[in-house]
Amino acid sequence: MEEAGQAIAYAEADFTEPNELFLRLLAEQRPGELSGARALDLGCGPADIVIRFLRRYPQAYCDALDGSEAMLDLARRNIAALPGIADRVRLVCDKLPSPTLAQGAYDLILSNSLLHHLHEPQVLWRTVRACAKPGALVLVMDLMRPASAGWAAALVESYAGDAPDVLRRDFHNSLLAAFEPAEVTAQLREAGLDPHLEVNVVSDRHLAVWGRIG
Ligand SMILES: C[S@@+](CC[C@H](N)C(=O)[O-])C[C@H]1O[C@@H](n2cnc3c(N)ncnc32)[C@H](O)[C@@H]1O
Repeated sequence: MEEAGQAIAYAEADFTEPNELFLRLLAEQRPGELSGARALDLGCGPADIVIRFLRRYPQAYCDALDGSEAMLDLARRNIAALPGIADRVRLVCDKLPSPTLAQGAYDLILSNSLLHHLHEPQVLWRTVRACAKPGALVLVMDLMRPASAGWAAALVESYAGDAPDVLRRDFHNSLLAAFEPAEVTAQLREAGLDPHLEVNVVSDRHLAVWGRIG
């Protein structure tokens, strides 16, 4: 996703359905008004979820991190056009693991569709653990690896049938790189997060991890 062409194709695609699913799952965790709360979005991409989040929670702030300058350029452009949002977001260009992130500082940690990009998934779980305040709410959603290559191809046809080739290819590769729920459960156990966070299947192609850090 570091190439400008990939970033533009991704940013132009319509992710309303999964991104609204993400916001609905968050609301179901009853986060309250999040007055003055500090959120962290890991792998924010073009910031569509950040914008949706800050609209729903007008008293919250968000640090949004992504490793791709091309993605953050798009995020910057999307946010600049939105009064009332721009002054509550801080964009951070860095790759996980990021030593620049504040430790024990966040009330809420969000991430969508980052986990399958990481060569070492513990990088995400270690960051969640290090950056969360005690009691912080965590919501991590990602694609879920289909049971067969045929099922992956069928998902690409269903959800990206008319999309540009670059997006279809990225979606297919992402599905194959994604984890199964049992693998994510094992990652949480290894990170010592299993007493706090649980894995749920939330659509035909997504899993989500949520809970509060003790
Ligand atoms: C599929 S996009 C998801 C973007 C956004 N969260 C969304 O839901 O639309 C994955 C993002 O993760 C970023 N990314 C991949 N590896 C990363 C890393 N190690 N550190 C930070 N960001 C990373 C990519 O640049 C890309 O913007």
